[in-house]
Amino acid sequence: MRLVILLAAFAVSVSAQITYQAERHLITFQTASSTMVLGVNERHELQTLYWGAPVPGTIDFGEAHSTPDRSSFDPSQTRTREEFPGWGGARYYEPAVKITRADGDRDVVLKVRAMNITPTAAKIGLEDKDGVAVDLLYRIWPELGIIEKHSVIRNAGKQNINVESAQSGVWYMPPGDNYRLTYVSGRWAAEDQISREPVHPGAKVLESRRGNTSHNANPWFMIDDSHATEETGRVWFGALAWSGNWRLSIEQTPYNQVRVTGGFNTFDFAYTLLPGMSLETPAFYGGYSGQGFGEASRMLHRLEREEILPGGVKSRLRPVLYNSWEATTFHVDEPGQKALAAKAASLGVELFVMDDGWFGKRNNDHAGLGDWFVNKAKFPNDLQPLIGEVNRLGMDFGLWVEPEMVNPDSDLYRAHPDWVLNFPNRPRSELRNQLVLNLALPDVRDFILDALDRLATTYNIKYFKWDMNRSFSEPGWDSASPVVGLKMPGTPDDQKKVWVEYVRNYYDILQKLRAKHPKLEIESCSGGGARIDLGVLKYVDEVWTSDNTEAFDRLRIQEGFSYAYAPKIMSSWVTDVPNMNGRSTPLQYRFLVAMQGALGIGANLNKWADADFTVAKSMVALDKQIRPTVQTGNLYRLMSPRDGDVTANEYVAQDGKQAVLFAFRHSQEYDLPAPTIYLEGLDSRATYTVTYLGDRTEQHTGAYLMHNGLDLNLKGDYASTVVVLNRDH
Ligand code: DGJ
Repeated sequence: MRLVILLAAFAVSVSAQITYQAERHLITFQTASSTMVLGVNERHELQTLYWGAPVPGTIDFGEAHSTPDRSSFDPSQTRTREEFPGWGGARYYEPAVKITRADGDRDVVLKVRAMNITPTAAKIGLEDKDGVAVDLLYRIWPELGIIEKHSVIRNAGKQNINVESAQSGVWYMPPGDNYRLTYVSGRWAAEDQISREPVHPGAKVLESRRGNTSHNANPWFMIDDSHATEETGRVWFGALAWSGNWRLSIEQTPYNQVRVTGGFNTFDFAYTLLPGMSLETPAFYGGYSGQGFGEASRMLHRLEREEILPGGVKSRLRPVLYNSWEATTFHVDEPGQKALAAKAASLGVELFVMDDGWFGKRNNDHAGLGDWFVNKAKFPNDLQPLIGEVNRLGMDFGLWVEPEMVNPDSDLYRAHPDWVLNFPNRPRSELRNQLVLNLALPDVRDFILDALDRLATTYNIKYFKWDMNRSFSEPGWDSASPVVGLKMPGTPDDQKKVWVEYVRNYYDILQKLRAKHPKLEIESCSGGGARIDLGVLKYVDEVWTSDNTEAFDRLRIQEGFSYAYAPKIMSSWVTDVPNMNGRSTPLQYRFLVAMQGALGIGANLNKWADADFTVAKSMVALDKQIRPTVQTGNLYRLMSPRDGDVTANEYVAQDGKQAVLFAFRHSQEYDLPAPTIYLEGLDSRATYTVTYLGDRTEQHTGAYLMHNGLDLNLKGDYASTVVVLNRDH
């Protein structure tokens, strides 16, 4: 084997970086909170030796050696922890890549051929024969404790290859048979429900087959050694940055290898690579927490805030938003929206968003999608008077759009019936009376970009809420060709590229729109929370968590959301009661639930009493005081809504100067007092001024607050409170 190794000058400290030890063929990834070691074994395969808590020295790991055969049924390849196994040779677990060559050869055995290592990035080139190659790309964020991996599958040969599985990478826990998997599942208006279950022999698949991220599952995992709690124990975690069909396969092999393979969903997947073409998979981020699930979540939150979200650390705090949807649904018009805007401004709202109903013939959900022109019956003077009034009231203006969709009753559909996903001569499922435009088509991509650019250029729009109210169905693309955009004859398999190209064009539009309108902010929404993942978060500023705005249900939805996603991006509205489930909770309770993320108000303010405005004004004012801590601080989930009668969440500012504690009581029974709440993350020796709602204050040490705890005297059903703790100097 000829191995090409390029090493960059190592200027940064050796304690946190990527290094290569030539004599042992080891690549070590060191971060502040984890170590991953890969080695090249005697067969020149790339092998995972370790991923877990920091092992800082260089003496511990010897050369990689494959594990021997045990029987004819247990060949070495099934027992060796290959970092990126092709489907080839005698391999039977989930492959990271599977292909068929034009000549029928389907065997892929990948050997290391080249390495390019720098302190924070690595590229490891793997090759099979005939130019079938995979580049493995790694990056580390030493301070954040995060390692990113993904792959690029290349056809450097002379014949076409059809890629049938393209995975970003594989994460291996240390071998064992006593792990637990934590993940979320759900459905429309009930997203992010947490499940925790043993990892058993065999495989468990989490996935989306819907074209978007989906309400039903979300592309992240946490695996613990069965002893972790919120703040203690070993937790390995990963999150995939993809907003289309994704798949995580969590396996425990017969030899107790525990591995998570993630990338493009293999369901209905095919991607033909002509010679010279390549396929890049989504980024797969991973980390290790020695301090339980809470720290794993905080690491992901920090990654998102500092590295993923547009603007990173410099991005602004999320403003208090008003959204018209639950108040006016499709019945928006200039006087009605102006009246709501005036009331919203009086509460201290900073961003007024007009939702669905302002365009085309959009009087209900039967018509109008695709016609992104102002409805002149509702806005005879166009949008400028409304936007001018919103701005005069001191608020920015935002607008709802659903650009990927079309109603058959629309001018767009009448002009371009061939733009929708469908199999010709087959029925097409209309869901919410709409069809999905084939965004993989360059014409559709250009149309959507033009429509949004025109709106952002014509009007003083600072914010788009980009919605997507149905999943794909019948995803036919009969003009598909092997090279998108070129007129070449395609095969049926080329149509399956739609799953990838659609999402790429979605990202492309977001990226171009932001580049052209640098002040524009975007919310990702898909009938609530069906498009939330680390892929879309590179292009949007916040996300719509769920169409379920009922505050008690929201506590559990928000808890599940917070496992992987930062409070800063979690849009939460205060809406009217009775809401879903017919439940009515007090206005203060609804505010405090929503103030744990990016606060919004979605109520019909025309129906509010003076007393409601009084409560709301004081809550909005409080939100503005505490939001730096809530949106950019460290979250401690003190008491889970799944466990008992009280939910409590605490946010501690990065500089430790402030902490904010929210607490909610669900239903008091047998006249029992609420349990004591023990705070976390404080400085034991410091003193804090503790301010309760109503401005009563006390002073306590961090030690007292963490070990004696606070009795918040929550009494009755749906009691709620917030406590602000400021550290004294
Ligand atoms: C679904 C969204 O989640 C809602 O907030 C609202 O925007 C409606 N669509 C409008 O049709």
